[in-house]
Amino acid sequence: MKYDKEEVNPIRDDRGARIFGARNTPIAKQNPDVLTPPSTDGGTISNMKWPFDLSHTRVESGGFSRETTVRELPISTTMAGVNMHLEPGAVRELHWHKEAEWAYMIKGSARVTGVDEQGRQFIDDVKEGGLWYFPSGIPHSIKGLEEGAEFILVFDDGSFSENSTFTISDWFANTSKDILAANFGVSEEAFNDIPDEQLFIYKGRVPGPIEEEMPDNVNETVPNPFTFNLIEEEPIESNGGRVWIADSSNFKVSTTVAAALVEVEPGAIREMHWHPNQDEWQYYLAGQGKMTIFASSGKSRTFNYQGGDVGYVPFAMGHYVQNIGDTPLRFLEIFKSDHFADISLNQWMSQLPPYLIKEHLNVDDNFIKNALTHKKCPNVTFDK
Ligand code: CO
Ligand code: CO
Repeated sequence: MKYDKEEVNPIRDDRGARIFGARNTPIAKQNPDVLTPPSTDGGTISNMKWPFDLSHTRVESGGFSRETTVRELPISTTMAGVNMHLEPGAVRELHWHKEAEWAYMIKGSARVTGVDEQGRQFIDDVKEGGLWYFPSGIPHSIKGLEEGAEFILVFDDGSFSENSTFTISDWFANTSKDILAANFGVSEEAFNDIPDEQLFIYKGRVPGPIEEEMPDNVNETVPNPFTFNLIEEEPIESNGGRVWIADSSNFKVSTTVAAALVEVEPGAIREMHWHPNQDEWQYYLAGQGKMTIFASSGKSRTFNYQGGDVGYVPFAMGHYVQNIGDTPLRFLEIFKSDHFADISLNQWMSQLPPYLIKEHLNVDDNFIKNALTHKKCPNVTFDK
């Protein structure tokens, strides 16, 4: 039989067979290690991948919003994500929610506002590579600046939904006018033109400099800023790439979300490791990667990721991320924690009596001498 060269099939050496039935070839090509897993994969493991392009999109006047939650990716119980775009001047309206909100600016810039429980105010502009964090229940807004803004939002609960936040327009629409009049000390007519349902995202004007936009009586500012310029921090450099870390040690307000921005060069690997504190929620910003998740008891499964995909690693499971493309692989590792923590397989092994390693793995002295250092191979390690 003549095979189409463009066809991909689950064939490994003398195993497997060509698929006769209907195909979705683009998806098969994007996921070669799912179609034909490495022979070392085994057992049944939950799905750990969700492309935002399969999420429902809220198409709004001024932008869009789409979410990846426990409903799209059932394993992702600790965190949920939203990909949102705001046109220049467009606003994600004044709102709050039960979950804390962490964000990374993918492209463009936005102006964010917030007020804490003591009435202290905050306003700042966030550029590409910048972050914000609003603690649980703190009211905030986001406005696209000159070029608009696209960002990824992460919430510290997988059950979060962008469709069930508390918005200012929704509350006004759901309050009778005599109560509004009594609350603000004005006549009911003041509320003749309020929206009759929530705005969520709306088109607005591109604002001027912050100083010119503030009200007359501004309270003092919050003690710990709600924003952080991650990309201007000094990264940890290693042979195969670099990492930028933001957690409550440098981004003080971010007490429930810790994050790392990871860049892996072509051919390099984010080394084999696990996290001793929490599940890992990933967002792939660019490039092509492969990750195998080791779940103990002979179980492991490999997935392929590309820009726009969400990945997930349950607490304590071993994993690596390899760049399998020819451009840098960039992704975010995010944890519901006040601090970033990982255990490097290499570092662990390098701190043990060599005989113990040799007894376990039947490796020779050459391995002990050469392998257990981060200096030689093109990998990305978090060890300084
Ligand atoms: Co929010
Ligand atoms: Co990890």
